[in-house]
Amino acid sequence: MNGAKIDVLRLGHRIERDKRLSTHVGLSSALFNVENWYYSGEHDEHLEESISSVAKRWGAPTKVVFLESPYKFIRHYSGTTVHLTMYGAPHKEVITELREENLNRVLIIVGGPKVPGHVYGDVDYNCAVGYFPHSEVSALAIFLYELLGDEIIYAKDPNAEMKLQGGEKGWGKKQKRRGLKSN
Ligand SMILES: C[S@@+](CC[C@H](N)C(=O)[O-])C[C@H]1O[C@@H](n2cnc3c(N)ncnc32)[C@H](O)[C@@H]1O
Repeated sequence: MNGAKIDVLRLGHRIERDKRLSTHVGLSSALFNVENWYYSGEHDEHLEESISSVAKRWGAPTKVVFLESPYKFIRHYSGTTVHLTMYGAPHKEVITELREENLNRVLIIVGGPKVPGHVYGDVDYNCAVGYFPHSEVSALAIFLYELLGDEIIYAKDPNAEMKLQGGEKGWGKKQKRRGLKSN
């Protein structure tokens, strides 16, 4: 994506109902090194701490920011806004259009509870990831993967406190057999 900065906004977080789901939206964003992970709804210090601490320890640059006024933020965002919803245009079409723009910054918005109707008109793109209702985590991960590719998911800070390199310890039976043969 020509070095465009990517931000994610998760709308309408509810502390009790969404603690795991919102954490997973945040971690999926950090997997793709998004710059800012914004959320709105109920302010939740535990959510902020769990995403920030994983991002920091595992070498993702993602910052977590709570928004009091997410709709104002969307309207004034200085970049392109993409709302993921099953009512949007197919994601490959939207990504083709995004690639044709000279993008500096993209805000990807996912909902939770019902997203107010005006958001559909305030954003630059409404984008579907399949015409089937699933989850903000899967919609976001598929969209980011299509937009950014797979190199970024392995590109973490090499000086991070935590890192995995893969290898024999994590091999299954077939991997072990193949690995032994090739030695
Ligand atoms: C519980 S789902 C609600 C599905 C919702 N009716 C919709 O507009 O996509 C919560 C969030 O997951 C995302 N989502 C779910 N299914 C999706 C799909 N097929 N395409 C894009 N986003 C989806 C949307 O961001 C949505 O706000």
